[in-house]
Amino acid sequence: MPSIAIEWLDLALRWVHVIAGIMWIGDSFLFMWLDSNLSPPSRPREGAVAGELWMVHSGGFYEVVKRRVLAPSEMPQTLYWFKWQAYTTWLSGLLLLGVVYYLGGGVYLVDGAARGVGLGAAIGLSLGTLGAAWLAYDALWGSALARRPAVATLVSFALLTAAGFGLTRVFSGRAAFLQVGAMLGTIMAANVWRRIIPAQSQMVAATRAGRTADAALGARAKQRSIHNHYLTLPVVFTMVSNHFPSTYGNELNWLVLALLVVVGAAAKYVMNHRLASNRWIVAAGTAALLGVIALTARVSRDATAGAGFAGAAPVSFAEADAILQRRCVSCHAARPANPSFPEPPNGIVLEDPRRIRALAPRIMVRAVETRTMPLGNLTGMTDAERRTLGAWIAQGAPLGDSVEGPARPR
Ligand code: HEC
Repeated sequence: MPSIAIEWLDLALRWVHVIAGIMWIGDSFLFMWLDSNLSPPSRPREGAVAGELWMVHSGGFYEVVKRRVLAPSEMPQTLYWFKWQAYTTWLSGLLLLGVVYYLGGGVYLVDGAARGVGLGAAIGLSLGTLGAAWLAYDALWGSALARRPAVATLVSFALLTAAGFGLTRVFSGRAAFLQVGAMLGTIMAANVWRRIIPAQSQMVAATRAGRTADAALGARAKQRSIHNHYLTLPVVFTMVSNHFPSTYGNELNWLVLALLVVVGAAAKYVMNHRLASNRWIVAAGTAALLGVIALTARVSRDATAGAGFAGAAPVSFAEADAILQRRCVSCHAARPANPSFPEPPNGIVLEDPRRIRALAPRIMVRAVETRTMPLGNLTGMTDAERRTLGAWIAQGAPLGDSVEGPARPR
């Protein structure tokens, strides 16, 4: 497929995906918020009322009454459902996964030749683990263990961490994070499709048939809704994680991901309950946040100026430049030789000495500290080259006399 077509597909799908995701997560936040702010009815109301609340928005006043079940006579003409936000988010996400990670030779998916996994196998694993995630989650929460939610939550978290660990062995760190996010997103969408909507459909059908619906169905649907709700922050982190090489490029990236899942879920808990109840959740979230900051800070400290390169011999621009030309410029040129990139990725061109010097801090982060460049180490950069490049940058990225004049003609 021509790369311009891929780029437009990517743009269109991403646009849809983000908007649908905002709508889905927005609904999840709104309904959880409604549920936690219901108060006992202020005046007599008919039916199985769970609570009511008043809101002001859009220049008017809204009165909301929640009923656990409806009497047959109470069934309204029009009943609004919330499901297409979830389905659209998942479908567009699946297609986007294909466009970004499977097409174009899978440059983002597999990490060089080192992992020994071909593109076909990697795609199979990616799709397979999406399905497996749902089957494992649904079996766990459909089993007897679900009656002990604390234990089932711990088991779920352990499985998630194990999946993150395994996937970071096979995929690039960046793809592994996204894959875990896609697995969580699949669980969430399948919760809507296979558990929440069917339970609500059964309730509606019972009411329409003149019977009182089983409120236990509603309670079970609510449990899955709550799971989805607490997964929103972790999933959104995985979706934006590709902007943060210090997370997915960390040596212990699977641990970084696990800790950030805890941070996200705990942050949601604090949003819902303030600090009042279950202080240990707040404590766990704070500890996880401090832990993850320490983990990512450790890498920069090891590799940067003071510690790592104090005793290094002076490195000339010519030496550093030779490394960049050898390992980077196949992609980061005005006209990249790598066919996957018709334009230089992120607009980064490493051909002009002054541009190279200006970009030195980012080169340090990507090629030395986090080793997330070259992409998938496709060009086979060695550790010695990373050290040399790091030393040159730590020494102030000097250009030397030879290139301090006008930019080199190319
Ligand atoms: C196989 C192609 C490829 C090679 C080779 C490559 N890069 Fe990249 N580079 C990319 C892509 C794709 C992106 C954008 C995605 C991303 O940021 O991960 C990128 C982004 C970057 C960025 C900008 C993002 C930021 O964090 O500021 C820098 C800096 C960078 N690369 C430096 C390098 C250096 C230095 C080398 C050589 C040591 C190198 N790259 C080799 C493909 C490549």
